[in-house]
Amino acid sequence: MTTILIIDQIKKDRIIAEAVLGSLYNIKSFSCPRSAVSSLGDLDCFKVAVILADAKTVNCNDDLEAIKKMLPAACLVLADSQKNIENNDKNTCSRKQEQEYYVYKPYISTALLKTIRQASSAHLAKNELLCHSLPSRGALIAPDIIGSGQLFDKLRERINLYAGSSAPVLILGESGTGKELAASAIHKYSGRISKKYIPIDCAAMPKELVESNLFGTTKGAYTDATDKKGAFEAAKGGTVFLDEIAELQQEMQAKFLRVLESKKGCRLGSHEQHSYDFRLVSATNSNLYGNKNFRPELLHRINTLVLRMPPLREHKCDIADLADLFIRRSGKTKVMDVQALKKLESWDWPGNVRELRNIVKRAIVLSAKEKVIRSSHIEIDRHETYRQGSLF
Ligand SMILES: Nc1ncnc2c1ncn2[C@@H]1O[C@H](COP(=O)(O)OP(=O)(O)OP(=O)(O)O)[C@@H](O)[C@H]1O
Ligand SMILES: [Mg+2]
Repeated sequence: MTTILIIDQIKKDRIIAEAVLGSLYNIKSFSCPRSAVSSLGDLDCFKVAVILADAKTVNCNDDLEAIKKMLPAACLVLADSQKNIENNDKNTCSRKQEQEYYVYKPYISTALLKTIRQASSAHLAKNELLCHSLPSRGALIAPDIIGSGQLFDKLRERINLYAGSSAPVLILGESGTGKELAASAIHKYSGRISKKYIPIDCAAMPKELVESNLFGTTKGAYTDATDKKGAFEAAKGGTVFLDEIAELQQEMQAKFLRVLESKKGCRLGSHEQHSYDFRLVSATNSNLYGNKNFRPELLHRINTLVLRMPPLREHKCDIADLADLFIRRSGKTKVMDVQALKKLESWDWPGNVRELRNIVKRAIVLSAKEKVIRSSHIEIDRHETYRQGSLF
């Protein structure tokens, strides 16, 4: 059933709209844009066909923009008095140019139904257009993630579901299990594909750099500082991927928590507040749940949706395909013989796919000009220590 989002501060008008439309559509009704935005994470952003909004309730453009960005395929119907709408018509205002629909208040049921039907058909056309950038039904989701069987069917299903939501995603998994691949797939299959994807590795840089990369800087904030947007400000409806989030320093965790709560923040060296619009995806290979250095209230803000990347020892059946991928990527035409493959399958891969990739790369070099990679070319670092996530 098509979903209609009603946003109206006047309870009586919400009740009338619900009564007129309720038997034909699935209705989600809210008294203010903020409560609509905060519950949108649970909805499939492509299923909301129409936003029926009282013009006075959404008169702040920021609220309206936030909702429209979250629901890229939905058509907007603004409800207002006949006088206000006619006045609006005389102005060549931006709203008019976006070809929104209008309906007069007080509502007349036939007029309301007619306008919602028109907007709903326009939604279908818009949705089709947007879906061209998404995988067709039956196409493999995230084909660059090699993995087969039920484990990966479920993983792909999750990636697809999470891509359709705006709620924060926390990706868990041991080192080298493909968390980064999954994060970019969630962005790629979301309605945010045309917006930026900004990855920030919290472990790879000092605290000050993480802070300036996230919040941005103003000239003079510190020596050599320039006017620069941070990831939160630059995302503009896109995705910010915080990799190794467990490494975020305590002080930054408190600041980040405030951002998630208010969706606002200042560049370093400035008191000017900027509104942020980004979808958060974070990843870690450590156990945040038992980590005394990670604020539980932050954890509960970032883990609305959780994706677990399986360790390679749980999908050894994919080793042959993965090895084949890494051989092809090297540009060499080689094959692996059965004994070499057996040797790979007998190892437990504490460093997961990244470790496998390195061993295959090594075997390609060791096999020199030979066309066949044999078990003697497979040299596994049995004493190498890899970081292990205690969760898995
Ligand atoms: N299922 C997979 N299919 C294809 N390539 C994979 C898969 N999993 C991992 N890889 C490859 O292995 C390497 C490591 O993956 P990635 O960087 O995504 O791991 P990670 O989970 O983010 O690890 P870390 O916790 O150390 O950051 C990358 O080159 C990635 O492309
Ligand atoms: Mg990573």
